[in-house]
Parts: sequence; structure tokens; C-alpha cells
Amino acid sequence: MKVCRRETFNSAHRLFNPDWSDEKNFEVFGKCSNPNFHGHNYVLETWVEGDIDLETGYVIDLKYLKDLIRNEICERFDHRNLNLDCEEFHSLKPSAENIAVVIWNILRKHLDNRYQLSVRLWETENNSVSYSGL
Ligand code: NI
Repeated sequence: MKVCRRETFNSAHRLFNPDWSDEKNFEVFGKCSNPNFHGHNYVLETWVEGDIDLETGYVIDLKYLKDLIRNEICERFDHRNLNLDCEEFHSLKPSAENIAVVIWNILRKHLDNRYQLSVRLWETENNSVSYSGL
């Protein structure tokens, strides 16, 4: 059984490779390499898979999951510049892929081993990535 909590956060980022020229960065990353950054309204789906607990009827208490995501992820990244404000991305490009891996690693530490965890991060209405630890 899988359950999901949806949370949102707004962050700025810039995708660029310092080893490349401005032209090559623009060619590869387009507007995402704009030197003055740009923002996204990220939508984070946190999926937890496990057995239904006989005593509660829950897989996991979604209130616990909500508080965990808000405290550990939203507090950390909401209204931040990922490149400049967040040490997680000082040497890691803040692409949706890398953000999802960072989020998964943080949440994984707080979840009991009996749960499988997977995160889906929507960067735009049409583009999302998913990470399950593999
Ligand atoms: Ni972007």
C-alpha cells in the first residue's frame, strides 16, 4: 500500500556549468542559465509504501509525514536561492533530479526501515522527476 503527502515550496536557482562558456551554457540550459536566477513553484509528492498497521489502519500517520516534510524540506528550501543559500547545492547543480535526490536522502534518515520511500518532484506543471533511492 502506498500513501502520499503533497507539499509545495518556492525556490530560485540557476543551472550552469562554470567550465563552459556563456554561449554553451545557454545552449544546454536555456533560460535556466540566466545569470540572475529564476524561480520555480516546486510541488513535492512524498510516497511511502508499507503494510497497513492493524492497530491504526494507517500505513503511516500522514500528520507525522506532513510535519517531517515541512520541518526538514520546506523550512530548508522555501523562499531560498538554492545555489547561494543552501549548502547542499554549493557543489551540486540544483536540477530537479539533484533536488529530488537531496530530499530523498534527508527524508530517508527520518523514516523507519520498514517503509519504502519515493519522492516525485514537479518543477513545472509538465515536468517532474521521481527518485526511490536507486
Ligand atoms: Ni529552472
